[in-house]
Amino acid sequence: MTMNEYLILVNAEHPLKSTEPTDLVSVCAEYPDILIRREAQSALSALLLAIGSGDQIVPVSGYRSRAEQVEIYESSLKENGLEFTRKYVALPGCSEHETGLAIDLALNEGEIDFICPDFPYDGICGDFRKAAADFGFIERYPKGKESVTGIGHEPWHFRYVGCPHARTITELALTLEEYISSCPDKEKDYEKDKALSRN
Ligand code: DAL
Ligand code: ZN
Repeated sequence: MTMNEYLILVNAEHPLKSTEPTDLVSVCAEYPDILIRREAQSALSALLLAIGSGDQIVPVSGYRSRAEQVEIYESSLKENGLEFTRKYVALPGCSEHETGLAIDLALNEGEIDFICPDFPYDGICGDFRKAAADFGFIERYPKGKESVTGIGHEPWHFRYVGCPHARTITELALTLEEYISSCPDKEKDYEKDKALSRN
């Protein structure tokens, strides 16, 4: 396995090491304020085009600054309480959204919930899931793996890891935690080297 800069692990035990991404772009012209990293954006556009999504799938949340994650966490605490917030909102500093490599998507139908948007397993969203790995995306918080990811089942949250990692992760039904822990230590040095080079 060869690590790439998109295969980083961010969770409660692995807070974000890097600073703000420098290659953020708008996810699409219709949603100029929703940003993701350039390579993830081009893969996502190609994926949506390949399945003929049109406007049936819409982006809900992409890159979040630390301050935005703090705001979302705190307002969810007030509105939804601690149990819900811990399940569906990562602690600031531990959210993949801060990497610019995560995107929450919704079926474009009715009112869209910002924290838990509807993204079913059938129809156009099912087509998206089937094709996602070929374009470098994984469903990051699957059902049944809550104890591994530390996050509740989130059918709407996709994470760009690049190819061929997304295909392997999906075929073997792994979480990113499981996939990265299976990689040789030599490869993991990539992460350490990158972290050191930033200090
Ligand atoms: N909803 C995901 C876990 C986040 O807040 O990053
Ligand atoms: Zn998300």
